[in-house]
Amino acid sequence: MKPNTSAFVALALLELFAIANVINISLCNGTSCIESEREALLKLKHDLRDPSNRLSSWIGDNGDCCKWGGVFCSNFSGHVLELNLQNPFSPDGSEAYQSLKLVGKINPSLLELKHLVHLDLSGNDFQGIQIPKYLASLVSLRYLNLSEANFTGMIPHQLGNLSNLQYLDLSGEELHADTISWLSGLSLLEHLYISFANLSKASDSLLVINSLPSLKELKLSFWELHHFPPLSFANFSSLTTLDLSGNQFQGQIPSRLGNLTSLKHLDLYSNQFNSAVLGWLSKLNDLEVLSLEDNRLQGDISSLGLENLTSIQTLSLDRNYELGGKIPTSFGRFCKLTFFSMGFTNLSQDVSAILGIFSACVAYELESLYLSGCQIFGHLTNQLGRFKRLNFLDLSNNQIYGSIPFSLGQIASLEYLILSNNKLNGTVSEIHFVNLTKLVWFRVNGNSLIFKINPNWVPPFQLTLLELRSCHLGPRFPSWLQSQKKLNDLDISSTRISAKIPRGFWNSIFQYYYLNISGNQIYGGVPKFDSPMPLFMGSIFDLSNNALSGSIFHLICRGKNFSKNVEFLQLSKNHFSGEIPDCWMNWPRLGMLNLGNNNFTGSLPMSIGTLSSLMSLNLRNNRLSGIIPTSFKNFTILEALDMGENELVGNIPTWMGERFSRLMILNLRSNKFHGDFPIQLCRLASLQILDVAYNSLSGTIPRCINSFSAMATADSSDQSSDIFIDISKNNFSGEILVEVTNLQGLQSLNLSHNLFTGRIPDNIGVMRSIESLDFSANQLSGQIPQSMSNLSFLNYLNLSNNNLNGEIPSSTQLQSFGASSFASNDLCGAPLANCTEKNILIPEDENGNGNEGDYEDGVDWLLHISMALGFVVGFWCFIGPLLIKRRWRYKYYHFLDRLGDGCFVRKCY
Ligand SMILES: *[C@@H]1O[C@H](CO)[C@@H](O)[C@H](O)[C@H]1NC(C)=O
Ligand SMILES: *[C@@H]1O[C@H](CO)[C@@H](O)[C@H](O)[C@H]1NC(C)=O
Ligand SMILES: *[C@@H]1O[C@H](CO)[C@@H](O)[C@H](O)[C@H]1NC(C)=O
Ligand SMILES: *[C@@H]1O[C@H](CO)[C@@H](O)[C@H](O)[C@H]1NC(C)=O
Ligand SMILES: *[C@@H]1O[C@H](CO)[C@@H](O)[C@H](O)[C@H]1NC(C)=O
Ligand SMILES: *[C@@H]1O[C@H](CO)[C@@H](O)[C@H](O)[C@H]1NC(C)=O
Ligand SMILES: *[C@@H]1O[C@H](CO)[C@@H](O)[C@H](O)[C@H]1NC(C)=O
Ligand SMILES: *[C@@H]1O[C@H](CO)[C@@H](O)[C@H](O)[C@H]1NC(C)=O
Repeated sequence: MKPNTSAFVALALLELFAIANVINISLCNGTSCIESEREALLKLKHDLRDPSNRLSSWIGDNGDCCKWGGVFCSNFSGHVLELNLQNPFSPDGSEAYQSLKLVGKINPSLLELKHLVHLDLSGNDFQGIQIPKYLASLVSLRYLNLSEANFTGMIPHQLGNLSNLQYLDLSGEELHADTISWLSGLSLLEHLYISFANLSKASDSLLVINSLPSLKELKLSFWELHHFPPLSFANFSSLTTLDLSGNQFQGQIPSRLGNLTSLKHLDLYSNQFNSAVLGWLSKLNDLEVLSLEDNRLQGDISSLGLENLTSIQTLSLDRNYELGGKIPTSFGRFCKLTFFSMGFTNLSQDVSAILGIFSACVAYELESLYLSGCQIFGHLTNQLGRFKRLNFLDLSNNQIYGSIPFSLGQIASLEYLILSNNKLNGTVSEIHFVNLTKLVWFRVNGNSLIFKINPNWVPPFQLTLLELRSCHLGPRFPSWLQSQKKLNDLDISSTRISAKIPRGFWNSIFQYYYLNISGNQIYGGVPKFDSPMPLFMGSIFDLSNNALSGSIFHLICRGKNFSKNVEFLQLSKNHFSGEIPDCWMNWPRLGMLNLGNNNFTGSLPMSIGTLSSLMSLNLRNNRLSGIIPTSFKNFTILEALDMGENELVGNIPTWMGERFSRLMILNLRSNKFHGDFPIQLCRLASLQILDVAYNSLSGTIPRCINSFSAMATADSSDQSSDIFIDISKNNFSGEILVEVTNLQGLQSLNLSHNLFTGRIPDNIGVMRSIESLDFSANQLSGQIPQSMSNLSFLNYLNLSNNNLNGEIPSSTQLQSFGASSFASNDLCGAPLANCTEKNILIPEDENGNGNEGDYEDGVDWLLHISMALGFVVGFWCFIGPLLIKRRWRYKYYHFLDRLGDGCFVRKCY
């Protein structure tokens, strides 16, 4: 019997009995379930942990198990026919998906459901067990879905007994197989989705797939295979979908795919294919979806032979970084194209030419155009307005210049518009948005657009995300923002606003998940907020670099709950004043707090110690007084502490050494600390920046200083971090210990203006990373060690105002410094006078080295800290680049890489 006939008969029977019920012929008790099957289901439930209570309706005394969630019975016999226990969320690793998993074993009582036709257990967690062999006894099964359910091990060949199967999904599992020849028993199979962790022994038996004549959809994923399996595909006359994505196939895309003439859907993404053979693709006349993204395709796009795919609807080519050239004019004939992506390729074309090619028939269908991160240049033209169905347009990270044409305002279906990081200038006005009623994202940061918008404008859209960084929005505060009730990501940093924040906007700041208004000239104080007090949604809140003034009491002490989500608070570089409020217990998740460069006074509040998640604390350049509170002991994961340029007093606490074991930056510069440098601080093995200059510290440098292992081992070729010690302008005394020379990663060492005596260590030449060395204004004596001429990176040297004597060692390095570097000693030789003559006194050079300020505001550390905090990916997609200085770029991109599948593509959109 043919499969279709049997299905038809079954359906006809079902229908008959349904009719029988309607006309009230009491053949049976209706839908009551069979006792033994109910008990089987209860046993099944008993072995599963169900944290989200999905099986709450499965309770013993509720007699009719046919009414239980996920259970469907025969109307006639009462037997359970279908069991749908799949996770309702798709496997995306999200919290929701995780929490809805059923976890545990499959109780063999399942076999009691002898009439089961449809079994779906996908997306649960069966904890790495094998697929139970006994499933093979459920011979009525037509549908079996065990995908993404944490089954591992061998695939039981008994599954070959399920001869009625039409649908088998074992994808997303790490399965092994000796052979898969048992598949030949499944001759009715139409949908086969299967994945293997290890198929090394079974790869020959893959040929069995050739003998499944009914296959319509085939998804094969191999975790190990680099070479395409020897499938001929010759008999697959009904195959419409072939998904070979996420394998490791290399080389050419096999041309025998051209035999699959019924194919509509071909997924080859996330492999390592590097070329296609011209011609075969055009045999696939019906192809509607072709995904080639994330491969290694090279050369010119026209070499892929795509030009005859006139049925194509979805074409994805993005993240083939070496695929270049221009979009061929023949693509203009893809009149059904709805989705085209070629982002992160080498596409190099004038944007007006691209719009021109698509503006014929494609413009009437195209819904998504994704061309971010290419080499696209030129002006946007009015042809944009022809793309009537466009919903998603991403041309970010290109070199498109000029203005945005008014015709943008005609794309009434547009929801996502992303033009960030181009060279757009020109004016943006209300006209650009007239018909954009559906717009939810407008991202143009990193351009120079000038917004000329009537303050009374009521936008036709409700955005959720708006990014205008570096555009010209000011000087007024854009009051139309207050109409955006759904907005939760807002970046209007560096937009030349020079105004007070309107009251209404203050009251709305709680709706933001991410808010950045830094780098403007916004002035005024933080008002008392209106009640009722909504929860502050945000995790990132940046008001820095403005002219805000007054107390921050209302912001910080607003209430217990409203600030509980905030991870990042940046209020630096304003004119805030008064005491730092004592309400930090309201900010439990804060990882980064920057109050630097304000005018805060008074002592540090106790409650700051409750911020036990803090990784970076910056209080630099205020007028804070008092001692470092012991509550700081709670900062056990602190990585950066900057309290420089205040009026703090007391000793450097010894407990810092044990409590701050992750500390990388310690800056106590320009305060009134006194006493010794505690030897306990030597335990700060991660320390890279130590700055205690301009205090009243005394005593000797502890010998254990060589245990600053981050300074001792750092690789000088790593340009990404400064490594330095500055203890200048204190009262340190004793010798410069030879242990200091162990710090071979050190780039800058400033010991100037202390009371150091003795000789410069002879082996100072081993400190090969040193770029800046300042020993001036001490009482050092003896000769300059010969080895100093080995310091080949040295570009600043000051040994003046000591008691050094003898001849300056000769090397091009040392002689390249001016005489002031050596002045006020008893030295001779170039650049000073010849050793036979008397030294001439040269005024001291007061200019310190240029290192301080490089890490100002801890901005560079933001990257590091955000990585560690695991800040939402979105944050990095949206504003990360703004904050990263050039020398962090490499790490930043590396970081993005590590996020996996192209943060720009998958996660943000
Ligand atoms: C049908 O109902 C009768 C009487 O109510 C009961 O004895 C019998 O067990 C029921 N049958 C089923 C299949 O539940
Ligand atoms: C699969 O089960 C194993 C064993 O219980 C467990 O360690 C692992 O985390 C599970 N994997 C997934 C993805 O749930
Ligand atoms: C493709 O089909 C043709 C004709 O059916 C056949 O000759 C050829 O061998 C097939 N190619 C492959 C690689 O199976
Ligand atoms: C596309 O079709 C034309 C006309 O049939 C043909 O000349 C050309 O070779 C085809 N291109 C490819 C890549 O198959
Ligand atoms: C806006 O849409 C309406 C209705 O679709 C249309 O009549 C009007 O011309 C459009 N305006 C602009 C500026 O595109
Ligand atoms: C935009 O930039 C171009 C070239 O950089 C310049 O010629 C033009 O005047 C600018 N337009 C505006 C409105 O600033
Ligand atoms: C800090 O406060 C003092 C005294 O109130 C004031 O003179 C000074 O201008 C303020 N500085 C800043 C940067 O606001
Ligand atoms: C340290 O943090 C804990 C909570 O993390 C808090 O209960 C305790 O009061 C804090 N200690 C101080 C001194 O603030």
